[in-house]
Amino acid sequence: MSPPASIAISNLSKKFGSQEVLRNISFEVPRGQTYCIIGGSGQGKSVLLKHVMRLLAPDSGDVRIDGESIVGLSGKPLDDVRKKMGMVFQESALFDSMTCLENVSFGLTMHRRDLSAKEVERIARDKIRLVGLSRVEYKFPSEISGGMKKRVGIARAIALEPEILLYDEPTTGLDPILASSIDELIIKMKAELHVTSLVITHDMNSALRIADRILFLYQGKIHFSGTSQEVRETKDPVLGQFVRGETVGPIPVIAEVDSSTRS
Ligand SMILES: Nc1ncnc2c1ncn2[C@@H]1O[C@H](COP(=O)(O)OP(=O)(O)OP(=O)(O)O)[C@@H](O)[C@H]1O
Ligand SMILES: [Mg+2]
Repeated sequence: MSPPASIAISNLSKKFGSQEVLRNISFEVPRGQTYCIIGGSGQGKSVLLKHVMRLLAPDSGDVRIDGESIVGLSGKPLDDVRKKMGMVFQESALFDSMTCLENVSFGLTMHRRDLSAKEVERIARDKIRLVGLSRVEYKFPSEISGGMKKRVGIARAIALEPEILLYDEPTTGLDPILASSIDELIIKMKAELHVTSLVITHDMNSALRIADRILFLYQGKIHFSGTSQEVRETKDPVLGQFVRGETVGPIPVIAEVDSSTRS
């Protein structure tokens, strides 16, 4: 029997009041793969990611991590599942009053009581090196650049050696060179740590570069799912607009897409 998918979402629906944000979403992320969720602002990408962390519970449907349903979990069983996941937040979400080394050590100090302070420091320094940083250990977040903060955020997310990495907009707000260096890092985390990654992004170039599969969220549904190549070649009018960086309005504009006019 093949192992269960790292992340499996089935028939997930979520409403806030009368607003249907997610409508019967199903997909699976196989172990070790990188999937990107793309879509316009307000389409429910962050809400979907919050269900994977079990920060939100669905109205109906299921979320399974390594085959285990997390929808009904709380307390220690939920903490245990969450330890399998590292989260990279949009704004890095570092603690301003802590040095970078303390930020990266934080989860280890909290959750790995079996480790000595010296071992915690060694692991944290190792993760900082892995994300390509040096000499930031004793700096505070306010003393380093946005791109460096993202790297520290990634170092913190991998400190507990999670099986799954969840990224919310990891390249937003970075210049193209820094954005592509974060893409490289996401690829490196996959290659060296064999993690399963779910990446939420507005950044089409980033998604095309890093994803094994891209899911396009539109009007609460997975409107399109395909490889980077399939997304590049899509004839779907709504996805085509998004890929070309045009505004995707709430009502799809159904027009003939002439592929000869596209680069
Ligand atoms: N806790 C909440 N209570 C009520 N409505 C919410 C809540 N969280 C999200 N929403 C609504 O759900 C919709 C989807 O929000 P979400 O944050 O998932 O969008 P997004 O696709 O991540 O957008 P962006 O690209 O701007 O980050 C929005 O209309 C938002 O207002
Ligand atoms: Mg969001």
